[in-house]
Amino acid sequence: MAVVKCAAELGIADAIEGHKGESPLTLAQLSSALGCDPAHLGRIMRFLVHHRIFREVPAATGDVGYSQTALSRRLLLRQDGKSVTDILLMESTPVMLAPWHYLSSAARSPPAGEKPPPPPFEQAHGIPLFEYTAANPGHSKLFDDAMNCVGRWTLPAMFEALPELMDGVGTVVDVGGGNGTTLSVLVKRFPWIKGINFDLPHVASVAIESPGVEHVGGDMFERVPAADVVFIMLVLHDWNDEDCIRILKNCREAIAGRENGKVIIADAVVADHGDDEDGKSQKQKELEHVRLMLDMVMMAHTTLGKERTLKEWRFILDQAGFTRVVVTPIETVLSVIQAFPA
Ligand SMILES: C[S@@+](CC[C@H](N)C(=O)[O-])C[C@H]1O[C@@H](n2cnc3c(N)ncnc32)[C@H](O)[C@@H]1O
Repeated sequence: MAVVKCAAELGIADAIEGHKGESPLTLAQLSSALGCDPAHLGRIMRFLVHHRIFREVPAATGDVGYSQTALSRRLLLRQDGKSVTDILLMESTPVMLAPWHYLSSAARSPPAGEKPPPPPFEQAHGIPLFEYTAANPGHSKLFDDAMNCVGRWTLPAMFEALPELMDGVGTVVDVGGGNGTTLSVLVKRFPWIKGINFDLPHVASVAIESPGVEHVGGDMFERVPAADVVFIMLVLHDWNDEDCIRILKNCREAIAGRENGKVIIADAVVADHGDDEDGKSQKQKELEHVRLMLDMVMMAHTTLGKERTLKEWRFILDQAGFTRVVVTPIETVLSVIQAFPA
């Protein structure tokens, strides 16, 4: 991961993408464009080419040139729908890497009569992740930018699979919506919808202004603003079942009395033994390794968060008072879970 992070920081993919010549960019040209020492950059490129992140192609001069691959385009610094650079840069900060050194202690049972040690993030930093982001605006911004990557892929895939998802909907509250990017994309697509981006006060207060989106600061454990639809993406996986049931009950309260009221959860559903996988495409099945990686990320970075199987999702939704649940896998790592109250 460190060398891939280095490639993103140097802007190698952007330099190759922006190269306008007929002949591919050579090492000399790439070094000069990035202000790098050719000897060092050459070794880094040799590594990245070997791992099929960039491709070597002959240049007109007879030198070796470089071209992009589908993978290297994910490393573009400029924001396009496919870039994962913001996630890569956030997950590879010393802050996010430190908790991984405590993963084994999260797994080990404490000796009889002793309390378990704090979760990995707290062992590394003394406080849970969202308290850390509240106290460190720089890290909070990195975190919000990283989360936006996911929103940029998820919404198109969600509406591709479920074009009727927002039929008859007038207001949507995005719970734990971060800097509001996801909701602004949604409101652009359905301009009649009034969006409420709801997050912790330190996040909502620096959220990006966007037409049709109001930013509201608060605590989802206390209350969720009222709306026709509660959208909640990659939030419930941060919490244990008890916390999720509390959040979901507040979500149910937020849609109480609404004619088309529903809660839409966008989160991973991990495969379980005996699950019927027939409804999933080959790509959705292949993405299971990412869901399982996300589950490890939850173990390292959250207090008791986890990725859930369908059975586990049904349990917390049932406990929170949702009587009908419709699950649709979409062409990303996530599924869309629509939950309807009685
Ligand atoms: C993993 S991020 C997901 C962000 C966004 N939904 C997305 O997918 O891009 C979790 C979000 O939950 C927010 N959050 C954490 N605790 C919260 C609370 N008690 N009330 C409201 N939001 C909270 C965080 O600030 C963060 O923006």
